[in-house]
Formats: sequence, structure tokens, C-alpha cells
Amino acid sequence: MSEATQSGSIDHVLHERRLFHPKPEFTQKAVISTVEQYQELYAAARDTPDAFWRDQANEHLHWFEPFDEVCRWEPPHANWFVGGKTNACYNAVDSHVQAGRGDKLAIIWEGEPGDTRTLTYRELQTEVAKCAEGLVELGIQQGDVVSIYMPMTPELAIAMLACARIGAVHSVIFAGFSAESIADRNNDASAKMVITSDGLNRRGNVLPLKATVDEALAKSPTVQTCLVLRRTGGDDTPMTAGRDVWWHDVIDKQPGDLAAKPLDSETPLFILYTSGSTGKPKGILHTTAGYNLWAKRTFQWVFDHREDDVYWCTADCGWITGHSYIVYGPLSAGATCVMYEGAPNHPAEDRFWELVEKYKVTILYTAPTAVRAFIKWGDHHVDKHDLSSLRLLGSVGEGINPEAWMWYHEKIGGGRCPIVDTWWQTETGGIMMSPLPGITPTKPGSCTKPLPGVVPMIVDELGNDVDTEHGGKLCIAQPWPGMLRGIWGDEQRFVEQYWTDVPGNYLTGDNARCDRDGYYWIMGRIDDVINVSGHRLSTIEVESALVSHPDVCEAAVVGRPDDLKGQAIAAFVTTTGRECNDELLKELKLHVRKQIGALAQPDDIRFTAALPKTRSGKIMRRLLRDVAAGRELAGDTSTLEDLASLAKLQEES
Ligand code: WTA
Repeated sequence: MSEATQSGSIDHVLHERRLFHPKPEFTQKAVISTVEQYQELYAAARDTPDAFWRDQANEHLHWFEPFDEVCRWEPPHANWFVGGKTNACYNAVDSHVQAGRGDKLAIIWEGEPGDTRTLTYRELQTEVAKCAEGLVELGIQQGDVVSIYMPMTPELAIAMLACARIGAVHSVIFAGFSAESIADRNNDASAKMVITSDGLNRRGNVLPLKATVDEALAKSPTVQTCLVLRRTGGDDTPMTAGRDVWWHDVIDKQPGDLAAKPLDSETPLFILYTSGSTGKPKGILHTTAGYNLWAKRTFQWVFDHREDDVYWCTADCGWITGHSYIVYGPLSAGATCVMYEGAPNHPAEDRFWELVEKYKVTILYTAPTAVRAFIKWGDHHVDKHDLSSLRLLGSVGEGINPEAWMWYHEKIGGGRCPIVDTWWQTETGGIMMSPLPGITPTKPGSCTKPLPGVVPMIVDELGNDVDTEHGGKLCIAQPWPGMLRGIWGDEQRFVEQYWTDVPGNYLTGDNARCDRDGYYWIMGRIDDVINVSGHRLSTIEVESALVSHPDVCEAAVVGRPDDLKGQAIAAFVTTTGRECNDELLKELKLHVRKQIGALAQPDDIRFTAALPKTRSGKIMRRLLRDVAAGRELAGDTSTLEDLASLAKLQEES
């Protein structure tokens, strides 16, 4: 196609040709076991969405009152299952007790110090009802916003579900955020209550969560009550009379028989704040029925869930992955979920593998940043443990570099477990593109194909469809049940950010390419594209070329201003231990040149001990752009995990 009609499409330079077929033993037992089955589902959801989703919702959610309209779509606003009444907590907990599966384990929990707890669905039902009763006693009503700032304890999931049970809206704030961030979120959402704990265990230390919350509450005028779980103990937890109450004083004494409240389908279920590239965080809003159905069905399809699976998602409930794939998805599907409180390297770097062995985990869902850390820590930690219970592996949060994918496949999956590389966003509510493990041959680095109900579209700068093998902006062309319903309190930002660029279509903010086999490759955020001498390159391809060098562990690539080329390529690299000298530098440049060509050869390579990442583990290229250009850091750094790594890079520049 000519330059004029492919305005600003992105060049694709990395060629990945490896293909891995699902093993016949896996396919035979799979939930979706033939390509035709997928094609039928996909075609039905695309061509007759009302009929498709009517059946799905009727079969997979409990309805106190039936809905009379499947989807009312007034772009950019969607109402799903209009007129119906359901309850996400009922679907996730009570429905299983009702169906006679109350004795099945819902949660297998392990604390960082090694303490453990299990909850059957029946026990979970009682705990959730007690918590809901306590919230009501403390004055929480339907529509009130409750901030939850807690360690990964069962009570975190219980608190979320208790809100859902009574129609309160939870806003989970990851327990690594500062007092300032908590206050911002409390104020933006007009939160009425904060649920927290005295402390949090992290790598053998106790972090004083309640003290941080106190600092936030001094600046959160809407918060009337603070409910505090005793997790770490000690007598020194500051409690303010009239505002702060202990969980064990209020919740433990409740009868635990409050039923789930029938709620309109579009009742707000939660707000989850996610960082914008600049400015204040956005409160992404999800509602009850559509979100619940999307989380449940995508869980069942993608993780091929079977009755005897032991499923472990290593995310924190502070992120969307924890909401959809620790709480609402797997529990609605009646799964047994492992939940772990602590760090992957405490007391040693083999903690995850110890847990997999101990609980005979069959499905493991983690993030590329973790996989790269495991590679860096060394294979001997993995080799100590029997991982033969695993049958399926998942990845989420960032693109997984093909070499990290290969390591995950071989070292953790023993070459036998399919990998589902799942692409989605806080905004999409659940997985949008992923292999279906029984049928989709996988290519390392590709999230493969859209799930039923997802109609992707890739466009150039002018909004025209780009050709196969060309990169462009990834949009979604049809509403889907799990889609965000808005940004809390900011309609204008919602419309501008997601619905204005390509009117009527959801703009994901990511770039992607679709290959000749119809496989999708996510090329990173739109803002991360580098423009070298008129060629638009995606950062992940150059990074993946660097990571394929045996001495490179992680790489982040950004553009910096260059008089001649427009932008030059600057790479930041962490190594697996080899000395970082000029020789390695030359070798790496040559390596990229050989892998993908002279055009993509980095102009600068800098070695660093760590890359700046968000608290959920994503590389923050935006900040590295400033470092590479020698600029002052601009924009919001509240989500940065490790300020020190960045400060060090700046000092050295
Ligand atoms: C990125 C996490 C490539 C992407 C569920 C997206 C990915 C953003 C993948 C959303 C993947 C997530 N491959 N990129 N499999 N998964 N991303 O809101 O840029 O924390 O837009 O949701 O992460 O991040 P969020």
C-alpha cells in the first residue's frame, strides 16, 4: 500500500518464526478443544451479539430479576443487561454453596511469614456476610465508596466481596502507595470509609500501614470511619477514638447471615485508579453484571478451568489483574485459588516454586517483570522444586520478550505447558486477546487472537485501517460487557481519552500489528514509538533483540532528540552479571544490528542495576525519555516503584 494511505504506520522489524502447538493430551480435555468451536463462538459474538450475550448471561450469572435488554449502546456509553438484577458477590460465593459445592476450597492462603489459612466457599460466604453486616453497622450503604488499603490477606478479598454484597463501591489502593496517593484517591472518589490493617509483612519487615493511612486521613475530609484488621500485631497501632475501629471488634461478632442484595446490572461495582501518563490518576469505573460475566467467561476460556485445578495468580488485588483474576473471575467460576501475601524472594528466591510444589498448583498466572527477575536470580532456585503439577502458564502486564517467553516455557513449564500471553487493560475489565490453550498454536511474544466479543481494529494516524504486517493504533470496534463505564467524576476525560481519536471506537492507547496468520503483536504504548529518520519503530522489538543476548536480563528503549535523525535510540540495559564494559557495549550494538538491522541499532546503551518501574512492574519509559534527553523529570511519578533507580541514572548522566 502507498505511503499516503498508510500514514504513519509503524515499521515492524523483529521476525519471530517459532511456533508451539498445544499437546494432544491438553487439547483432548480442554474446555475449547477445536478451532471450529472457537470460530463459532467468535462469529456468533461478532455477528449476533445480542443473542450471544443473552445466552451467556442467562447461563453464567444468577438473576434475581431477568433483564429485558442485552445492550443499550449510545456511544460511548453502554448499558448491559438492562432491567435485570444480580449480585457479583452472590455469583462469586453464594451460587456455589447453593449448588452444593460449599465444601470446595475457594482460597488457599499463605502469609509471607509462612502462616496459612484455607476457606471453603461456605466459610467464605459466612466471612463475607459478617464483613458486610459490619459495614452496614458502620453506616455504609449502597453507593458509598469504600477505599481498601490492605495487605494480600483473605480479608482483602472478603472486604471487596462484602462491598459487592451490599452495593457499596470498592476502591482498592495498592498497599505500596504513599499517604498522598491515598488521600488523592479518597478525595477524588469521596470515600466514606477506609479499610486497612495495622501493618504489612514485606521481606521480613513490618511496614506500618495504619500510620500511612492516618497521614492520608488528615487530608481526607470525606472519610468518616477507618476499619483496621490486626495482621502484624504489636501494641503501637495509633487508633483515633470515634473514627477508627478494629475488625475483630466489629466483624467477628456479626451473625454472618446477611443475604446478597439484588442490584441493577449497571450498579457501580468498583473504581480502580490507574495512572495517566500525565496529571492525576484516573478512577476507572466498572459496574456489576457485564464486568462479572466478562471476568468469569474469560477466566474459563483462557485458563481452561477444570474442577480440580489449583489456580494461582501472583498479582496483588491492588491491580485489575487481582480484581478480575483473583477475585471475580475465578471465584465466579468456582475455582480453588492460591493467594500469597509476600515477596517472591522471601525468605529466598525460590518462594514461588516452593508454593507451586507445596500446593500442587496447576495454573500459574504471573507477569513478565517477575519472569525476568527469575531469570536473573538463576535456574538453581527453580531446579530445587518439583513443578510437575503445572499444566498451564499465563503472562500479563507487559509484552513478554520472546527469550523470556522461551525460558518460562522451558524452565517453568517443562516444555509441556502452553503459555497464554494475555493482553488487556484496567479499562477492558478482563482479557481481550489471548491464546486458547487447547487450540491456539503460540508464537513467543504474540498475544495471538481476540476472544469472542472482541473486535480489534488497527488504524494509522489518519484513522484508516492499516494492512496486515503494519503496526498502528489498536482500537476495539464493538462494545463488550466488561468495558469501562467511565472515569469517576470526569466524563470529559473519558470521552477525550478513549473515544475521540477514532470516533465510535475504543482507543486502547497501545500500538499493535496483525500478522498474516491473524495473530496480534502488541507494540507498546502509542507514546513510546520512536521515530528514526522517518521510520517509526516500536520499543519492544528493539528491547526483545537486546534481551535475546545471553548477557542481557532486561532492556528499556526510548527515543531521544537527535538533530540528524529526528530521534536517536537510547537503550537502558541490566545484565545477568557480566561486567558492563565497552566490549559488551559494542557486542550489544552489533547483536541488535544482526537481529533486526542497522536502523534499529541503539545509538547509546547505558548499563544500570535496575530500571524504573511502576509499582505493578511495568517499565516507565516516559521517565527514561527524560533521562536520555538530559531533561528535568516531568509528570506524575507517584506510581514509580523505586525512585532510587531513577535518581542514580540521572546522577550518572
Ligand atoms: C500493557 C493490566 C503486551 C499494555 C491487565 C496495556 C500488555 C497495559 C499485555 C494495561 C500483554 C498488558 N502484552 N502489553 N500481554 N498486557 N499490557 O491497565 O500496554 O495495568 O495497555 O492492565 O499494559 O495495563 P493495566
